Amino acid sequence: MVQTSFPEGFLWGGSIAANQVEGAWNEGGKGVSTSDLQPHGIHGSASERDSSNANIKDIAIDFYHRYPQDIKLFAEMGFKVLRTSIAWARIFPQGDEKVPNEEGLAFYDRLFDEMTKYGIQPLITLSHYEMPYGLVKNYDGWAGRQVIDLFERYARTVFTRYRHKVKYWLTFNEINMALHEPFTGVGLAGERSQQEIYQAIHHQLVASARAVKACHEIIPGAKIGSMLLGAIRYPITCKPEDVLASQRANRDWLFFGDVQARGAYPAWSARFFREQNIVLNITDQDYADLKETVDFISFSYYMSGCAAAQTELYQDERANILSMIPNPHLESSEWGWQIDPQGLRFLLNELYDRYQLPLFIVENGLGAKDTPADDGTIEDNYRIQYLQAHLQQVREALDDGVELLGYTSWGPIDLVSAGTAQMSKRYGFIYVDRDDAGLGSLERRRKKSFFWYRDVIQSNGINLNASF
Ligand code: BG6
Repeated sequence: MVQTSFPEGFLWGGSIAANQVEGAWNEGGKGVSTSDLQPHGIHGSASERDSSNANIKDIAIDFYHRYPQDIKLFAEMGFKVLRTSIAWARIFPQGDEKVPNEEGLAFYDRLFDEMTKYGIQPLITLSHYEMPYGLVKNYDGWAGRQVIDLFERYARTVFTRYRHKVKYWLTFNEINMALHEPFTGVGLAGERSQQEIYQAIHHQLVASARAVKACHEIIPGAKIGSMLLGAIRYPITCKPEDVLASQRANRDWLFFGDVQARGAYPAWSARFFREQNIVLNITDQDYADLKETVDFISFSYYMSGCAAAQTELYQDERANILSMIPNPHLESSEWGWQIDPQGLRFLLNELYDRYQLPLFIVENGLGAKDTPADDGTIEDNYRIQYLQAHLQQVREALDDGVELLGYTSWGPIDLVSAGTAQMSKRYGFIYVDRDDAGLGSLERRRKKSFFWYRDVIQSNGINLNASF
């Protein structure tokens, strides 16, 4: 029988990240993070800061100072959960200090207390597209094996500090993205070989497993998950070689979930590494550490794409951080991201079949330009349509038997785009008055989608199909 409401206790909410909202880039004793050196977003190359490369994220949406007002608005929508990240460089400014920065710790105490005040659970990512730049300079990012210990120190510090406040954790945001953006993912500057990238990834996977272990030790009852960029690729045709090509492309990202959920490298990876001449330095202790597996699988989902054996026959489109062959059957967003609600149902089923662990959709949404009407209102029907269509497919997947902890839409409040550092690529239910040049009052305003999402949450999904 088709259920009409979502499961009891379903965690509805939204998802943001420190470097895209907080601003205050050099306040409160914070060190420089890798994101501070990417004024043009994660696709841009990293540069040492100077006065000419001020970054829109320096202020972002000033969440660091305005969070009480923003959390109040999230509470008004009925959020049960808010996903955000801790900026590692607020806690360990250079990354390798022995003692954490108390001012940074105190900021997140205040933030989590504010959420708790409204009954909003924090879901916290330890590293969302940033790390202290000191670790890049002094250890070559995640190429440095010592960074495993430094990350563990950071993780243990925040688990201990927030053990009574935070029960849901994620280790690395879109961990598979390191393959495509090594500076953002694993702090590797400049052109690097596959060998170096996979070695850095290996260190990060070990660090992730050590954090999982630490979390289980320090916070009984807490749940800690992986976070994958759900980059599903369909075969561009039903030719067997295209089907194999799509399997290959999907394994690129499933590799990370396999290690994090199963505690070992997948069987196929041995041949892959051999053929790519990649020889990883893996110690016996690493193998033992990797055995500590995650409690749930979380992922982002915005679009799908296709894969082909003969890629030269198709136009490859750079969408976000991945190159994907466009699907001729799908429409695209203004930023060229192909919209595929059924792909979300497919992905949920695939992940649940593969891992048999609870899932959590921690990012999904439509980046679009909003134009306020003369009276200031914002009729973002396109956004509602996108979210409604995706949530309808979530509903289907629940009926298929998938176990899903919750759904946090990306950017419930407008924020700086990770990919392009634009403000005009808006995801929010709440409009923020700031443009791509950084001009604007930073005033917050409810969009039409704000009231729509509030109604969906209030009815626990029963009103999902209502016209708007
Ligand atoms: C995900 C990231 O890749 O996509 C977020 O985890 C990001 O940080 C989101 O903001 C949307 O991408 P963009 O480039 O539109 O900001």
